[in-house]
Amino acid sequence: MNPVIDADKTKLTARFDQEDWSSAYCNVEKEHRQTTLELIKGEIPKDLNGTFYRNGPGRLERKGEWVHHPFDGDGMVSSIQFTNGVATFSNRFVRTKEWEEEEKAGKFLYRGVFGSKKSGLLLANAFDLRLKNIANTNVIRLGEELLALWEAGSPHSLDPATLETNGLSNLKGALSANEAFSAHPRFDPGHNNDSRMVTFGVKTGPKSTIRLMEFATKGANAGCLMTERKDTFNGFAFLHDFSITPNWAIFLQNAIDFNPLPFLLGQKGAAQCLKSNFNRKSKFWLIPRDHGAFSKTKPQIIDAPDGFVFHHLNAWEENHEIFVESIFYDDFPSIGPNQDFKRIDFNQLPEGILKRCKINLLTNSIEEKTLSNQCCEFAMVNPRKVGLQARYSWMATAEKKTGNGPLQAIKKLDLVNGESHTWSIAPRGFVSEPLMIPKSSSKEEDHGWILVLIWNGALKKTELVVLNAKDLSHQATLEIPIKIPHGLHGSWVDSN
Ligand code: CO
Repeated sequence: MNPVIDADKTKLTARFDQEDWSSAYCNVEKEHRQTTLELIKGEIPKDLNGTFYRNGPGRLERKGEWVHHPFDGDGMVSSIQFTNGVATFSNRFVRTKEWEEEEKAGKFLYRGVFGSKKSGLLLANAFDLRLKNIANTNVIRLGEELLALWEAGSPHSLDPATLETNGLSNLKGALSANEAFSAHPRFDPGHNNDSRMVTFGVKTGPKSTIRLMEFATKGANAGCLMTERKDTFNGFAFLHDFSITPNWAIFLQNAIDFNPLPFLLGQKGAAQCLKSNFNRKSKFWLIPRDHGAFSKTKPQIIDAPDGFVFHHLNAWEENHEIFVESIFYDDFPSIGPNQDFKRIDFNQLPEGILKRCKINLLTNSIEEKTLSNQCCEFAMVNPRKVGLQARYSWMATAEKKTGNGPLQAIKKLDLVNGESHTWSIAPRGFVSEPLMIPKSSSKEEDHGWILVLIWNGALKKTELVVLNAKDLSHQATLEIPIKIPHGLHGSWVDSN
């Protein structure tokens, strides 16, 4: 196979070998249970105690047939438990009903949202609208349950220690049968007294209804639905993420249309039928949170800047203004029916740019500011700052300064003065979502660690890297005993 190297020499290019990057896409063949990790370099901080959970696609191929898009791969959850300077590793596929059926049959039986087809000819896919709940997008702790999340269906409940699947969860009766439940909850550290997991489900079509839910995360009610509201808006909505402030839940309705015909005919996956509509305006939908100052009032709808957003960084309020920081793309990035995801040309993809929108609630006007021009994804603030103005953020970035590229560096960005620190593993290494873990003994916003799984393209291995959150200095590298494909989201649970 010929390595494809950035072809467009007119852009500021950082060279990488396409095969180094794509070699991470392989099936996970083994499940571990509390295997002690080998330290390759450095030392694990002794006061880093807790569990790092991470979800992502683990099964990408059956009998030589590949999923069309890695986002269609079955969820495989990893956990790395840190105890006094020692780390142990466990991993397990989420035993969804569909995964069990496909394991038994040895072939794909279901279509994927991103265009993966079940085995057989086109007709095998036409009018088969059954999708599998692949439980591959995020993994979070809520009460006693560890939840594997996938936004178009209900969560799967896992045992937090063994990662064994207990089946679909209705969250103590909060969800109806296989109700859609976002993979992007936001954890409110206690703006309205108690800490909450704020999340949503969306039903979409010509109109879209958002069910906003707040769950208790601590005490006797941990895991219980405490408040909810439903609001209906005009138009189709693809809502992957949202952000919160003490008073508002903030959604961005991208200017995107959905043409279901190729999906019904079995030619495309549902997500491949989404298309930017440049004649329409994106909208911010602001829904008042219960227990906030505007509780029980109607949502506010405000024109948003052009562009497509998957992920938000954070949001906060100042008097009558709301600030929302999000990663904007010029267009919806999708992989067409005839493209091979492993040979994707990054130069053809729009780049993710971190921007801040200031929404004035008195005038319904918006001001937009670019925070960094470097292509980024998977950005977060210190979890204690969710919903408040944060000074710092941590994110994965491309190596080159402009244009799209694979994620090869971790950046700490000062959101006030634009200063940054970078830790890079280019040209042969690739990063995934960084997780910022605050140091419990410190009140300083940037005291803590960054955990990130990396793909070592030279050795064809997955490694876990620990960085100091303040200056991104390297603390430790640990060898992971399996190859983990480029993945999605994760979370941290303190051991106390
Ligand atoms: Co996401």
